[in-house]
Amino acid sequence: TDLQQVRASLLDWYDANHRILPWRRNPNSKLSAATVEAAAAQGHAPAPAELPQNEFIYYVWVCEIMSQQTQVSRAAEYFRRWVARWPTVQALAGASQEEVNELWAGLGYYRRARYLLDGAKYIVGECGGRFPTTAKELQAIPGVGAYTSAAIASIACGEQAAVVDGNVIRVLARLRRVGGDPRSAAATKLWAELAEQLLDPDRPGCFNQAMMELGATVCVPNAEPRCGDCPISAACLARKAVLQYEQEGGDPG
Ligand code: ADE
Repeated sequence: TDLQQVRASLLDWYDANHRILPWRRNPNSKLSAATVEAAAAQGHAPAPAELPQNEFIYYVWVCEIMSQQTQVSRAAEYFRRWVARWPTVQALAGASQEEVNELWAGLGYYRRARYLLDGAKYIVGECGGRFPTTAKELQAIPGVGAYTSAAIASIACGEQAAVVDGNVIRVLARLRRVGGDPRSAAATKLWAELAEQLLDPDRPGCFNQAMMELGATVCVPNAEPRCGDCPISAACLARKAVLQYEQEGGDPG
């Protein structure tokens, strides 16, 4: 079906083109050895495969908080320093707010740094140092809402929870040709529904990251999407409308 084709194309693209990030493990990576080596030479390594799940959840939590309002490449730099200083949630819980803010300096929105320290204290104090593993329970952590809980649960725990952020909304709006104000209350529900429908049930974490990555690197805002590089352009209704228009010899004016 169309849905399965879109999922498969998107995941194939992700496996062959994903960015190497310190909080990612990509079991189906098709990056060439040369690409991986070149990245490693520049200090870009994926999260170690042997990382226990609780530590992996910690990684994904930290990175998803850092990536809000911050570019992923910039978040990755801070992330590497962060886990070198506080490799576990227990280590973080023992830090002071001053130490945390010092490492955070330059990232802005210091409320996020407070959330991370408060969150670590909550996990250590209330959960015995073990992160919960469902989106619903993860929302008890200070600063973790619908977006962050779905990202952590899908990426680190394999839960079928769809992520909706600005990039995902743009991809969905074009793919399904949804008009109107993407920020209205009615639209919020629609995006969640569309994202859930499309979510790959077998690889929800990779699928979510593929959607975010597609929106950030290919299906970019305004008039400059790189449709020629898009793995799902064949199914894209916005693209179809443009092509049809061009065939009819229209002039966008
Ligand atoms: N933006 C925020 N988190 C991300 C992730 N895990 N992958 C790609 N883009 C992101």
